Order: sequence, then C-alpha cells, then structure tokens
Amino acid sequence: MGLIDLHCHLLPGVDDGSKDLDMSLGMARVAVQQGISHIVLTPHHMDGTYVNHKADVLAKTTAFQTALEAAEIPLTVFAGQEVHLTGDLMKALDADDILFLDANEHYLLLELPHSGVPAYTREMIFALQTRGIVPVIAHPERNHGFQTDPDKLYDFMQMGCLTQLTASSYVGVFGDSVEKLTAKIINAGMGVTFASDAHNFKGRRFLMADAFAKLADQAGAETAARFKNNAKAIINGDDIALPSFKRLSAVKKKRRFWLF
Ligand SMILES: [Fe+2]
Repeated sequence: MGLIDLHCHLLPGVDDGSKDLDMSLGMARVAVQQGISHIVLTPHHMDGTYVNHKADVLAKTTAFQTALEAAEIPLTVFAGQEVHLTGDLMKALDADDILFLDANEHYLLLELPHSGVPAYTREMIFALQTRGIVPVIAHPERNHGFQTDPDKLYDFMQMGCLTQLTASSYVGVFGDSVEKLTAKIINAGMGVTFASDAHNFKGRRFLMADAFAKLADQAGAETAARFKNNAKAIINGDDIALPSFKRLSAVKKKRRFWLF
C-alpha cells in the first residue's frame, strides 16, 4: 500500500478542482507518481458556492474508478466530502446527505470558513461528538482564525478533534507564514496527518512525497510513520492514539528559554 490521501478535489467538474475527466486522469497520474495508492474524493459541500450531494458523489466516484481502471491508473478512490461548517450541517446529517472519511461514519472532514473560526464552532463540535462523530479539521494552518490565535486549535484538539494538515502548506506553496505555522503545529504535537487538498497541476497540487520527505527530515522518521498510519486508521475508521500535544505558545516559551 502506498500513501493514503484523505482530501482532494480530483472528481471532474464538481467544484473548483479538476475541470474535466482528462484533467482528473492527468492529476491521478501525478498522484501515483507521488506514491499515493488510495484517495478519498472530497468535493466541497455546503460551502456557500458548491453543493455536492452524497448520492451524486457516490455515483460519480464509481464512474471515476471505472475510468481510472480503463486508463490503467493504479489508484483506488473512495467517496467523501469536504464538509463546510454551517448551521445546516445537522439537518444534512439527519437527511443522510453527508459522506465521511470512513465507512463507519466516524471521521468527518470539516472545513471552517477561511476568514476565521465562528463563535458557534465549539457547540457544533459538541453536537457532532454526541453523534459519535470525530471532526477532522481541514488545513487549520490556512485558516485566519487559527493563524491569529493558534491556541484555538489546541482547545479543539483537547475536545477530541483531529487535524489534517495540507502537504503543500508544509512545503511552502502558500508562503512563508503558512509553512512556518504548519511546522509549529507539528512541533507542538498537533499534526495528525497530511493530505494533498489537490485542485490542479500548479499551486494546490499533490506534494505528498515532498511533504513526507521534509517531515522525516525535520521531525523524524517516527513522526512521518505516525502521520501515514493515522491516515490509514482514519480511512479504516479505527481509533487514533495521539501523543501529548502542547499549546503553540508553550512551545515558543521553551525555545526562548533555551536561547537565553
Ligand atoms: Fe479542499
């Protein structure tokens, strides 16, 4: 088994990711080159621009798997959604219109608004947890709310949320500050797994091999192995034991102490 990618916009023509089947097959070849063998297809859902109903994503994923096989691309795909945090989320769950990262419906890829962390996020996380759902927060390093107050991420992890850091964030695609924040989250023990969030060939693309090489170099082979195993645990719906993690502010203080 190669790498597992829990978040990408590879499904053709459904959101701001791949435009058509040709592009999707081209991107799929890049994914294979990056060592990826399994991908959860996670089109945007309920983000104010895109709605991708569960039944549609299931049907389109089956069709895309057939196209991959016809093109002899060795990639297994699963149906998922990047679920936006919205007041309508509970209604969508009741209507069985939500896809999870695993067949047990345990792990939910949750996207917060990029502009910040809404005041009702904590209540919503509690509401999800009472249903036995574990939110996996998509790319917190790219969210303005966590960028300005990273301790909010610590609070959500204390509540039981997990994090999905984006591979391209860690290797600098979104600039220096996002790259540094990704590294800080990892150093604080709050990184759980990488995913590509690939949308195209340039910019937001598959950089999983690059990110894992950097992770092994900067944080050690054990951490890299843990990130890979966590992706497998999530897709299988298995429990994840997290190492101890700290507030980012606590990590900073320790460094200052050693400098002086
Ligand atoms: Fe995404």
